[in-house]
Amino acid sequence: RDLYGHSRRNAAGVEFGHRAALDALLAEAAAGAVPAADAAPRIDGRPIPGTARLAVSPIDAETVVGTVIEADAAAAALAVDAAQRGFAAWAATKAELRAGALRRAADLLEAERGRAIALLQAEGGRTLDDALAEVREATDFLRYYAAEAERLFAAPLKLPGPTGEDNTLAFRGRGVFVCISPWNFPLAIFVGQIAAALAAGNAVVAKPAEQTPLIADFATSLLHRAGVPASALHLVPGDGEIGAHLVAHPLVAGVAVTGATSTARAINRALAMKDGPIVPLIAETGGINAMIVDATALPEQVTDDVVASAFRSAGQRCSALRLLCLQADVADKMLTMIAGAARELKVGDPRQPSTHVGPVIDAEAKARLERWIAAHAAAGRLVWRGTTPSGGHFVAPAIIALDSPEQLTEEVFGPVLHVVRWRAGNLDQLVDAIKSNGYGLTLGIHSRIDATVRRVIERLGVGNVYVNRNMIGAVVGSQPFGGSGLSGTGPKAGGPNYLPRFAQEQTVAVNT
Ligand code: NAD
Ligand code: ALA
Repeated sequence: RDLYGHSRRNAAGVEFGHRAALDALLAEAAAGAVPAADAAPRIDGRPIPGTARLAVSPIDAETVVGTVIEADAAAAALAVDAAQRGFAAWAATKAELRAGALRRAADLLEAERGRAIALLQAEGGRTLDDALAEVREATDFLRYYAAEAERLFAAPLKLPGPTGEDNTLAFRGRGVFVCISPWNFPLAIFVGQIAAALAAGNAVVAKPAEQTPLIADFATSLLHRAGVPASALHLVPGDGEIGAHLVAHPLVAGVAVTGATSTARAINRALAMKDGPIVPLIAETGGINAMIVDATALPEQVTDDVVASAFRSAGQRCSALRLLCLQADVADKMLTMIAGAARELKVGDPRQPSTHVGPVIDAEAKARLERWIAAHAAAGRLVWRGTTPSGGHFVAPAIIALDSPEQLTEEVFGPVLHVVRWRAGNLDQLVDAIKSNGYGLTLGIHSRIDATVRRVIERLGVGNVYVNRNMIGAVVGSQPFGGSGLSGTGPKAGGPNYLPRFAQEQTVAVNT
């Protein structure tokens, strides 16, 4: 049991070095690849008809993953109205029963992980280990928020009554929560937001990213089959414009968005312009994440951790390393080792278990990244570049040298590592330069000097700090995740303070 009384059990992994275990997982994923998937707006559990488009895979444009019907503005409005009708019954459902539905969903997801992995690979371009890790994270979110619902919502908190009153404080659902998610964790973040909002007693309208509606449809159906009433969870596939329609609906009582900082700003502005109640926003956004390495760090460990943090998931993690800051005395040696290790990465079809770097999500992302790399190559800043295979939206990893941290002013969402050098004695200036970008999501520190580590942590108030390890893959319940400043509003996902922000508090004082 942890500090909060949860009997914690994170979802189990698979030992890839164990041939029989790997083969069994591959067979599960192969069996999960059929039949083709579909997605549609699902309101009260019923699909809304419309014109279907084909969803093609980022691995290869010839591979059709399924068909998608997107919501229009009318369907978006219907979904919010239906959620408002479903709210009262779900809010009145005991917290233990709400938690029970989420736990059944976790069990179902583990039972159906082959299907989930197949969809994550085909639609999201995820490698086998990333897809498995994502299924585990989604499972963990479901169980964690179920336990949190029981801890926080089962009974009101009794407070002192110095004047003889009986005082209690209770949490309740707010109403209709709109949950807007990104494509880069199309299962874990989609499910995590919904699970938190449902656990807190809200009805949910879920808007997945336009790139990954099939996984969202699968997860929505799984939650319904686990016992979440169709009236409490509605699916609205569509693009940002449909998301904007949802946000603008007068009955919306809360919005959770994970995505780019510019998207969170647009939603924040739209909410601020609305008449009626003030609607809370929970925004988890991007980062320009740095790792600071000093001369006391272990070069082999730094190499492994840099390669994993910058290039795993093709760099398409909000937590990924973007800016490596090497102490000048060791920079040449470390860069040679890092480029040597990166050279060993296999870029290609993520369904092959030997692949390290799969495709980026779509043609637009590929074009944007190639433009960025080409501009820096033209300026003589390209230190190393891998080889790009043909076929899908592949982008070979790249390492780019910059003169100072301030030169990196945007989140480059792909397998591109930027490197700067800093001189001993200039650590505080380096930290201030990193801080000046305004983001505050993840930070890596490699140093064997405790005072250095403490100084950097205190000066750089980022959300998640990783010391002498890689800086990706926060574990639910152990490393609550989320940033500050341009990186989001908090609270931290997978942590003990997340659920209360999805709820409203009510104090009752009874004169006894
Ligand atoms: P995005 O901002 O383009 O889209 C995110 C979601 O917002 C999508 O569902 C999109 O359709 C919707 N959307 C876009 N404009 C909208 C609007 N005006 N109103 C309502 N909804 C709107 O982000 P993305 O490309 O899908 O995801 C990548 C981004 O997400 C990166 O910046 C990454 O750092 C960030 N991210 C952050 C975290 C975190 O926990 N902090 C986790 C994953 C991803
Ligand atoms: N939670 C994800 C990670 O830590 C974004 O990599």
